[in-house]
Amino acid sequence: MQLDVFTLVPHAYAWLTEQRPVAAVLGSELDLRLFSYRDTSPLRSGQVDDEPYGGGAGMVLRVDVVAAALDAVYGGVPDHRVVALTPQGRQLTQGVVEELAAEGRITILTSRFEGFDDRIVEHLCTDSISVGPYVLSNGDLPAMTLLDAIARRLPGALADGSGELESFSPALGGRLEHPHFTRPAEFRGWRVPEVLLSGDHGKVEEWRREHVR
Ligand SMILES: C[S@@+](CC[C@H](N)C(=O)[O-])C[C@H]1O[C@@H](n2cnc3c(N)ncnc32)[C@H](O)[C@@H]1O
Repeated sequence: MQLDVFTLVPHAYAWLTEQRPVAAVLGSELDLRLFSYRDTSPLRSGQVDDEPYGGGAGMVLRVDVVAAALDAVYGGVPDHRVVALTPQGRQLTQGVVEELAAEGRITILTSRFEGFDDRIVEHLCTDSISVGPYVLSNGDLPAMTLLDAIARRLPGALADGSGELESFSPALGGRLEHPHFTRPAEFRGWRVPEVLLSGDHGKVEEWRREHVR
């Protein structure tokens, strides 16, 4: 998959790209490209945003700046999915992640301050996605959330099998995974369920099935 992120802070993604699962698929299953709106801004001094028409607080990401960034990279509006991250978007779920992870190419647009000039979402994007019903200060944390969730679904991202029986997966009927425990078996009187210490794989499986939530 080729995944392109347009941002004002490409350097902020360094940490994520050094960690699994993104690091495990970078250069093989995932070609990640980070673009700064400033590098292609047609405005002086790399300006990217402006005051809102009608007045009010904050700055708005300009449509000509985003169009110029897409022109520079794709020669126009790309013919693959372009996702704007915005609180007004479709809520991100595991189903949406699976849908996007099946794409060959995706472009993600981030914003900050008051957000996008709405013509960006209307005319330059195919999708708008929200990571939840709350407001963050910029689109980079949502972009990293989406990037991590997509990377987990790419071949080779996780140890064999560990991505199949996860919370929200079809294998669990979209429900939540059973609780996990590790050593010590008892701590401050808090005891691990006996069946998990029994060595009886059949009973352990049965307990786990019963404790899917
Ligand atoms: C401070 S927010 C803008 C909030 C906007 N004025 C509003 O009231 O809906 C700035 C940017 O952060 C990103 N952002 C914030 N919360 C988000 C969320 N829940 N999901 C996706 N992106 C979000 C978006 O890119 C947004 O344009």
